[in-house]
Formats: sequence, C-alpha cells, structure tokens
Amino acid sequence: MSKAKFPANFLWGGAIAANQVEGAWNTGDKGLSVADVISYKPNVSNKDYAKHAAISLEAIKEAMAETGTKNYPKRRGIDFYHHYEEDLNLFAEMGFKTLRLSIAWTRLFPTGEELEPNEKGIKFYTNVFKKMQELGIEPIVTLSHYEMPLNLSLKYNGWVSRRVIADFVRFSNACFEYFGDYVKYWLSFNEIDSVTRHPFTSAGIIPECCAPGKEIQENYQALHHQFVASALATKNLHEKYPKSQMGCMLTKLTTYPLTCNPQDVELALKKNLHNYFFSDVQVKGAYPELMKQYFKNNNIELQIEDSDYDILRENTVDFLTFSYYMSTTASNDENAERTPGNTVLGVKNPYLPSTDWGWQIDPEGLKISLLELYDRYQVPLMVVENGMGALDKFENGKVHDDYRIKYFKEHLKQMNAAIKEGVNLIGYTSWGPIDLVSAGTSQMTKRYGFIYVDADDEGNGTYARYKKDSFYWYQKVIATNGEAL
Ligand code: BG6
Repeated sequence: MSKAKFPANFLWGGAIAANQVEGAWNTGDKGLSVADVISYKPNVSNKDYAKHAAISLEAIKEAMAETGTKNYPKRRGIDFYHHYEEDLNLFAEMGFKTLRLSIAWTRLFPTGEELEPNEKGIKFYTNVFKKMQELGIEPIVTLSHYEMPLNLSLKYNGWVSRRVIADFVRFSNACFEYFGDYVKYWLSFNEIDSVTRHPFTSAGIIPECCAPGKEIQENYQALHHQFVASALATKNLHEKYPKSQMGCMLTKLTTYPLTCNPQDVELALKKNLHNYFFSDVQVKGAYPELMKQYFKNNNIELQIEDSDYDILRENTVDFLTFSYYMSTTASNDENAERTPGNTVLGVKNPYLPSTDWGWQIDPEGLKISLLELYDRYQVPLMVVENGMGALDKFENGKVHDDYRIKYFKEHLKQMNAAIKEGVNLIGYTSWGPIDLVSAGTSQMTKRYGFIYVDADDEGNGTYARYKKDSFYWYQKVIATNGEAL
C-alpha cells in the first residue's frame, strides 16, 4: 500500500463523554443523572451486558441514598472536572486538531425541568471551551451521551414521554446560546440506536415503569421522541448559527453472514438494514418503508403527530458520525459460538482475533462500513469512536501498549484505503484518548487511552496521568497527517 494520504484539514483527535470522565457528580449544583446510579459490579461478565445496563426502581433508590462514589465509578470518572486543563494540554501535546466531548445535561439543568441554566455549569464548560480555543482544538460536542437527568427518568419514564422533547430543546438552546461561539460541530444523541439495546442509559427508561408487555413499543416511542428532538435542535441551530453543523451518531454494527447459506445472508441483511434505519431517519428525514411494516407486523403502535413527519423531513443532519469497534456475525444456527461486542452479543467470526474483553478486531470492517455509509448517504462522515479496551501493565510510569498501536495502525490504514476509494471522511476521534470509566461495565481497568490514569476499579489511586507508548505514536501520526502510519 502506498503512503497514507489524508485530506489537508483532516480532524485528528479523540473522544470522551462527560459521565465517564468528569466526576464531580455533586459539585457546582449538578443534579443526578442516570449514569450516577449505575453501580460497578465486579464480577459482571461482558456477556451479561444487557442485565448490567437494566435497572430496577429499588436499585435506583439504593443509589440515591448512597452519598459516596465507591460503588458508582461514573460519579468520580477520572476527575476531568478538576484536571481538564492538564488533560487538554496533553491532548494538545499529541497534536489534537479536535476533541469530541459531551455536556452533562444535569450540570446545566439539574432536574431537567428548570427554565434557566445553572450558572456554575455554564461557567465550567465556558472555561473548557476557552482553553480548547487557546490550544487550537476544535470541539465536537455531543448534547446527550448517556447522562440524562435522573429526575426525568423517574417522573416521566424518560424519553417515553413526549414532554421530554421540550426539556431537551431548552437544554440544547442553552448550549447553542452560551457555547455557540466556540462550537461549530454538534451531535445530538450518542449512538441513538442504543435506545433499543440499553433503554435506561440511553433514554431513562425503567422497565418496571413501562406498560406490561409493551417494553419494546415504548423503547421505539422514546426513540421517536429523540428523533424529533434532534430535528428540532438541528432547526434551532441552523437558524441561530447558520455556519454550525449538526450530525447524527450511530453505533455502526456491520454484520456478516457466518456462511453463504441464504438463511444466514438474510439474517445478516436484516440486521444491517435495522442498523441503517436510525441513520435513514436522521439523514434522509423519513422512516424507511420496511421499518413501518416491521412495526405493523410486531404490533408496535407509535404515537406520531402529523407535524413530526415535516419536522423530520425538513431538518436532516449535515453529517454522519459513527462509532466502530468491531464487526459482528449472524447465523441461523442456534448453537453457533457467541462473543460479546459493543452492547451486542454476536456470533463469533472464526477469522478474527479478539480483545481482552472478547470484542473481535476487524480493521477491514471499518473500511466496509465507510464504503457502505458513504454510498448510501453521500454526506461527510466522521469516525467519532474507535479503540480497544485492554488490560494495561503499568510499570515505572510506563505502559508499553504495542497491541493498542497495532489496533489503531490497522484501522487507520483501512480508513485511508476508504478515503482513496472516494469516501468523504472529514475526521477521526479515537475513543478514550485518556483512560476513562467504561460505559458498559463501569470498570476503570478496561483501558482505552494513550494516556494512563492511575486509578483502579474501586477508585483508589493518585489520578496522576502518564503517557503510554501509544501517546508518542499517535502524536507522530497526527504530525505527519497520517503519513507515519
Ligand atoms: C460506545 C459508547 O458504545 O462504546 C462509549 O458511546 C463507550 O460511551 C464505548 O465507552 C466503549 O464501550 P465500553 O463499554 O467498553 O466503555
């Protein structure tokens, strides 16, 4: 392969989320978010992801009564709240052109229902954006990344209720008003498709609060409300800041058939079409016909107001972003071996190696995903999450993470190959450029970073930051605009 060539203004960087890094869960009048009540369960297997992500009312009450952070790692994150200057300096040292980060809704609107934003929250993010501006790091801001106000979840069963749209629009308007001069790229909902896989963290849905037997319908109803909220936020952004752009964010779950048995092929096709449904609505502005029929066939009746169709059609996103960690495989054979992945349990692909957490490593799948997405939508693309969670060995202030360098090198090469074949890819933000709390398992020891954070699963440690070998490697990649790959 000839030397990698990336577009001149390619946005190299990394991605983090407020609930996984900030900590300071009750500082600055911040309210409780859904992430603050997710406890760390030391022995949870990644295969039990869905069980881990679901929550009972009793567990929420227990969490609310707990004033410490010990069992609730997302309450402490990596204390980015107090380390943000140091961390941003480190990102700048790596040469970051961009940083994707999210805004904790509960820092601005502690219960989600206030009419005016909390000044202390505004101040914190203003300081963060000012520092980024000073360092020349372009922000990409996710408005909602698994951290909605717990109050909205308890009172209204989260996004199942239509009224949450107005709360979100008020929150997003405040973000545009206060941070609009610093931020050009916005994303509405992180992995919007995940509402159907982990409804509590994505949409505040508590299973016990759903109508019996209607859980799936209510998940799709909540999703519909998020689609409308995203479109309204897009409308408001475009009106107020015509030069700013709104993107959608999809978990790209590219599925291969395990064999060429037509049954496996059909199953894989259906999984891929289901994955495209979410971006179809946000990029094309309408529900796909096959999805409408799927709802009918499965007695899923959505409450959709007539004006919703216009809102979705008239306010599509400007670009598409996605996370890519692995591909997955489908088989009609019930006994086929399964393996965990990013919130999915798929069939194991015999051709691929796996990470310490069993997620299969498939760089070529990234190229395939890019080609498919670009061909389908023809809008600018960004890979806004990609990386491997690994058990790092920290010795004498160093981590020799050649496995991580290999993972990134192979993915970036495939990304470059997709660009050479015509894909309009404008940016890449690796997931967790600094170690952070895992979304799925709440572990700290599932490390993604180029920067090591001295903290363990129980919260012990100095929280000091150290540069891993991969830090210097990524720095070189960025400095040469990918030529050093
Ligand atoms: C994505 C999420 O699904 O995967 C991130 O957007 C998350 O928040 C990432 O951290 C990796 O998953 P995990 O469970 O290893 O943290």
